[in-house]
Amino acid sequence: MLGFINVWFMPTVLITGGTGFIGKEITALLLRKNYEVILLSRTVASPGILNKGNIGWAGWDIKKGIIYPEAIRRADYIIHLAGAGVAEKRWTKKRKEEIVSSRVQSSKLLLRCLQETKNNVRAVISASAIGWYGPDREEPPVIPFREMDPPDDSFLGETCRLWEESLEQLEGLNIRLVKMRTGIVLGPDGGALRELLKPLRFGIATILGSGKQVISWIHLEDLCRLYLEAMENEAFLGAFNAVAPKPVTNRNLVTCLAREVRGKFYIPVYIPSFLLKWIMGEMSVEILKSTSVSADKARNTGFQFLYPSVDAALKACLNR
Ligand SMILES: NC(=O)c1ccc[n+]([C@@H]2O[C@H](COP(=O)([O-])OP(=O)(O)OC[C@H]3O[C@@H](n4cnc5c(N)ncnc54)[C@H](OP(=O)(O)O)[C@@H]3O)[C@@H](O)[C@H]2O)c1
Repeated sequence: MLGFINVWFMPTVLITGGTGFIGKEITALLLRKNYEVILLSRTVASPGILNKGNIGWAGWDIKKGIIYPEAIRRADYIIHLAGAGVAEKRWTKKRKEEIVSSRVQSSKLLLRCLQETKNNVRAVISASAIGWYGPDREEPPVIPFREMDPPDDSFLGETCRLWEESLEQLEGLNIRLVKMRTGIVLGPDGGALRELLKPLRFGIATILGSGKQVISWIHLEDLCRLYLEAMENEAFLGAFNAVAPKPVTNRNLVTCLAREVRGKFYIPVYIPSFLLKWIMGEMSVEILKSTSVSADKARNTGFQFLYPSVDAALKACLNR
């Protein structure tokens, strides 16, 4: 009976893009904490909330501006992760439009539904990215980027600005908004690590450009814990950098991973910048960019990282 009461009163978290690399892990964490979870996905066509196992599924069509409203009515919190993969395809004009509109239009749709539907949503925790910031101002970097720094005028900087701005009217609805400016997420089974591991199967550690560019990263488990903390702790408000306290250079990251996977038996290969530019086009700018980002704001709330350093983070990813 008491178990029933506990489950009955547990808050419901609506997650957009919850079927992806980060969303699956956040869902698993929330279920372990006994939250109710509803995934808002483009893959659900039928109206209503479908229950599969202990997860509810609801549909939305961003282009047509449709959300099944019961999903909004049931939600106590929204975690907003949806967006077309930034590094999935070459940045053609069409792809860039999709990267922006999938984030901005989905945010505006959520906002409109929250304005029009009676709801109990207390907070929206939305993904954003450290693409907000430009390249480091000095080499080696001395002062890392902080949340009050302005957006860069590059494609990713502009995307993040539009993405974050599209949710700002939530304040007028008395809904707390947290924007997670996320670094490169290191986790098993996906994301950047999957790509880094591919050449290592052949014993090759691919270092990009000079390898001196700084990568601000975060372990997937710490990122999910940060989302949960941002949901539960009202001190979280506005933009937060979701990065580990110790960024590393691309060369450090790649060689540290190579040592973990191959011991001494790997060959470091530098891929020159011009070749990356030729293969990847405009996206290469981001891959070659050095961005040192501060984790202080999150740490000052009392949040403790399980994986502050990259070697422990990589070990944990590989051992899972
Ligand atoms: N992974 C990273 O290193 C990283 C770093 C910084 C920021 N982020 C941000 O964090 C969020 C989640 O990242 P992730 O790595 O989990 O991404 P992901 O694996 O690509 O998952 C994103 C989810 O968004 C939905 N989606 C895909 N294309 C869409 C489109 N065109 N329109 C609307 N929804 C679409 C999909 O869910 P359905 O098919 O169920 O609708 C998908 O499962 C993203 O917004 C990403 O930009 C990630």
